[in-house]
Amino acid sequence: MVLFLIGFMGAGKTPLGHQLAKELGYTFIDTDQVFELRFKQTITEYFAEHRESSFRREERSILESMATVDNVVIATGGGLPCYKDAMDWMNRNGITIYLQQEPEELYARLSTQTQHRPILKQKRGKALERHISNLLDQRKVYYEQAKFAFQGPVISPKTVINTIIL
Ligand code: S3P
Repeated sequence: MVLFLIGFMGAGKTPLGHQLAKELGYTFIDTDQVFELRFKQTITEYFAEHRESSFRREERSILESMATVDNVVIATGGGLPCYKDAMDWMNRNGITIYLQQEPEELYARLSTQTQHRPILKQKRGKALERHISNLLDQRKVYYEQAKFAFQGPVISPKTVINTIIL
């Protein structure tokens, strides 16, 4: 089984992914981490040198490199599902799980992390709150194509496993 965790930055994909992989005895893969290993630089460094469109092309190629893996939990970058037919691709190749968080919760989690998130463009306060809320509105249509959705703020690995396996 291949599980794709999708959702906005700060939704909790990486921590939940680690917990799910541990519970299931699966391998955990984080597409952002694969990206940084492949390019030997952080995503922030990459964005400083390249256009966002190059990043989206490369993260899509990382996704497609997962076509033959099995028994894995894959945490995807927050924008990955929203480009081209990535949702269709993931729905064909595994089980998609949307970690849903309210914009206020995302703001609380992300407000201290804008330096490491090029998409947030180092915005602060009300401008950051608006940016998160607008981007989430645009992306929801993709995220909501997931097979399963779980509402935060806290999403337990047991709940996810019991729901998707039953
Ligand atoms: C992005 C989310 C990040 C990372 C990149 C772009 C986005 O991943 O892929 O900074 O467009 O939402 P996380 O969701 O893991 O923070």
